[in-house]
Amino acid sequence: MDNPYKPYLVKLNKVTIENDARDLKTFEVCFINKEDEEKFTYTPGQFGWLSIFGVGEAPFGIASSPTEEGIVKYTVKRMGVVTTALHNLEEGLTIGMRGPCGNHYPLDKMEGKDVVIVSGGFAFTTLRSTIIYMLHPDNRKRFGKITCIYGARSSGELIYKDELKEWEKNSEIDIYVTVDKLNGDKWPEREGFVPAVTKDAAPSAKDAIALVCGPPIMIKFTQPVLDELGFKPDQVFNSLENRMKCGIGKCGRCNVGDKYVCKDGPVFSVAQLADMPKEY
Ligand SMILES: Cc1cc2nc3c(=O)[nH]c(=O)nc-3n(C[C@H](O)[C@H](O)[C@H](O)COP(=O)(O)OP(=O)(O)OC[C@H]3O[C@@H](n4cnc5c(N)ncnc54)[C@H](O)[C@@H]3O)c2cc1C
Ligand code: FES
Repeated sequence: MDNPYKPYLVKLNKVTIENDARDLKTFEVCFINKEDEEKFTYTPGQFGWLSIFGVGEAPFGIASSPTEEGIVKYTVKRMGVVTTALHNLEEGLTIGMRGPCGNHYPLDKMEGKDVVIVSGGFAFTTLRSTIIYMLHPDNRKRFGKITCIYGARSSGELIYKDELKEWEKNSEIDIYVTVDKLNGDKWPEREGFVPAVTKDAAPSAKDAIALVCGPPIMIKFTQPVLDELGFKPDQVFNSLENRMKCGIGKCGRCNVGDKYVCKDGPVFSVAQLADMPKEY
């Protein structure tokens, strides 16, 4: 059996600065060994660990879709030791990656249903993965209407801008890009907080699943809107980001009640969260 703590060697293929503050970067990596690439099969919603040798490792949601063959992407905010070291790396260097870890968005439950995506800030990463996956010609017919509400504090803080603009032109997805405050920006044209825009967009709850990922305050104010629209607790899924150490259900660092967020999650339905202690 392979050692789950041993990272695969990956090459930093491409680094993209995502925001005006330059503290959010997308790291595209590719495997140094082909057989590692074949072992690393993932589903949207899962996370992986990036390690900088001699510094440490940290978990990040996988931002690429399994349909984007040959590469894996992560969008990382500069926070502390590992993320700062990562931000300082140059393209072409070798780093470590382990995973994939955790569960994923409920693709089986989403099949044949409309999918509503609600997100704010840089938590959009695994939802980007989900959108790319659902829009892929091999998968598009498996899902109903796709609606996405995505917001950030300002236009300079929106990530994946080129893709957002492309999706605005794509009839396969209804996308509402919003910022807290417009400052005479040419794009986007919408101002307002994510919960209010979700209320205006009013996606139907009939035969729909909602995936919600963002800052706690956004989730807190979005849930009543979804309740009002008729979404039941088993139709809404959140992704948690608890502090983790092992990522594989061994150390007990991430548990909420009897659930390990790293193994049983990070994706939980609102119905499941209601049965868990409120410590997440
Ligand atoms: C399942 C999962 C998915 C994640 N996905 C992403 C992602 O896609 N992109 C991304 O940028 N980050 C993501 N994170 C958070 C990321 O793991 C932390 O930012 C990272 O571990 C910080 O490491 P560091 O060594 O740079 O910071 P440290 O030096 O360890 O800490 C710096 C600061 O960050 C805070 N911090 C550390 N970890 C977390 C955390 N998990 N949540 C909140 N604050 C934290 C510390 O309290 C401290 O204030 C995810 C976390 C989890 C558990
Ligand atoms: S991080 Fe070790 S059990 Fe979850």
